[in-house]
Amino acid sequence: MKALLMLMMAGYTLFGADGYDVYKKQCMQCHVEMMEKKEVLKVFKTLKSPPMIEVSNRLKENILIKEDDDNIIKRRVVIAFIKDYIENPSIDYSMCHLGAIDRFGIMPSLKGKLSSDERQAVAEWVYDRYQGVSFK
Ligand code: HEC
Repeated sequence: MKALLMLMMAGYTLFGADGYDVYKKQCMQCHVEMMEKKEVLKVFKTLKSPPMIEVSNRLKENILIKEDDDNIIKRRVVIAFIKDYIENPSIDYSMCHLGAIDRFGIMPSLKGKLSSDERQAVAEWVYDRYQGVSFK
């Protein structure tokens, strides 16, 4: 039993970070996990950034792959965007509405706060968490 537990713990570190844990530690203070559009409008003044469900849905809507059936490629491209944005947020790359950028400003860079594994894990989480969960 003990050996099994130790194996599981070793597996945990071997297979890298847990995306949801990284989200809770590094993103949640600004990006709310779930919120409906009508709720966002109500509490807009108190929000620090767009909810993560909105971020995830917007990226998937905007980043279109030619062969749209090819979800594997789309997933990789969206994840690559998120992974990069964490360290290099910029008005040049943001897909946020201008009104929202006016309100929130551009995200501060989290360079140095997350390992490459953690950025990968959280980017995958942002994609997968909201598969089939639309922002409405
Ligand atoms: C200090 C607040 C803050 C933290 C912490 C933060 N963000 Fe952001 N984020 C913002 C704001 C504000 C925006 C909207 C403006 C912009 O696009 O830069 C944003 C935008 C984004 C975008 C771009 C959305 C778009 O439509 O282009 C992504 C992707 C993103 N955040 C991911 C993350 C991830 C992943 C984390 C955690 C690892 C994180 N953010 C942590 C404030 C934050």
